[in-house]
Amino acid sequence: MQHRGRFITLEGGEGVGKSTNLVMVADYLEARGLEVVRTREPGGTPRAEAIRGLLLDPASEEPLDDDAELLLVFAARAQHLARVVRPALERGAWVVCDRFTDATFAYQGGGRGLDKTRISELEAFVQRGLSPDLTLLLDMPMAASQQRLEGRLDRDQSQRDRFEQERGDFFEAVRDAYLERAEAAPHRLHIINADQPLEAVQNDLRAVLERRLEEWA
Ligand code: TMP
Repeated sequence: MQHRGRFITLEGGEGVGKSTNLVMVADYLEARGLEVVRTREPGGTPRAEAIRGLLLDPASEEPLDDDAELLLVFAARAQHLARVVRPALERGAWVVCDRFTDATFAYQGGGRGLDKTRISELEAFVQRGLSPDLTLLLDMPMAASQQRLEGRLDRDQSQRDRFEQERGDFFEAVRDAYLERAEAAPHRLHIINADQPLEAVQNDLRAVLERRLEEWA
């Protein structure tokens, strides 16, 4: 029987280079003849993208309640899992996803300070045992990622979304929560030092992928 595809997630704070590196990871797997589905959270389907819009909308006339934020994240995830991730894995495709539930533990748990036991309960309810096979955590000190983010936002002339508007201590808490997750699950979650030239970051990513592909062969 063909094994189901593998589920790989990329994680990290704002401005750590997830998008660029997601392309590299997906290209690397495709070059090995694997079918790869590239996707992201919150989002990945039209309805889940609409929920993403609600989550990121900085409109301040009606603040979003923290519990509502948490439930919206998991509502988007349920839709994305049902429509994209599970069908892809079942047909043997590999899924490379920009953020997943580690982001919920980091942002809603660490950043917002919501109870992590409650997040675990929602995780069990929505995911029914499905979790990533490998998570690549792009990590860099806050000062470095904030500097990159500032540069990007200036260049794009775009408005900051609800999360990008948060303050430094929020992002420190996000980073700490991610590192705590990595410590608790060292086999699944690999910390990649993102505070180095892109080529060095990508060499590190390739080394992890190579080891894992051998292990899964
Ligand atoms: P992005 O900037 O990586 O596209 O992600 C959008 C934002 O959504 C980002 O600021 C982190 C946030 N987010 C959460 O707060 N919880 C989650 O579970 C996920 C997946 C993302």
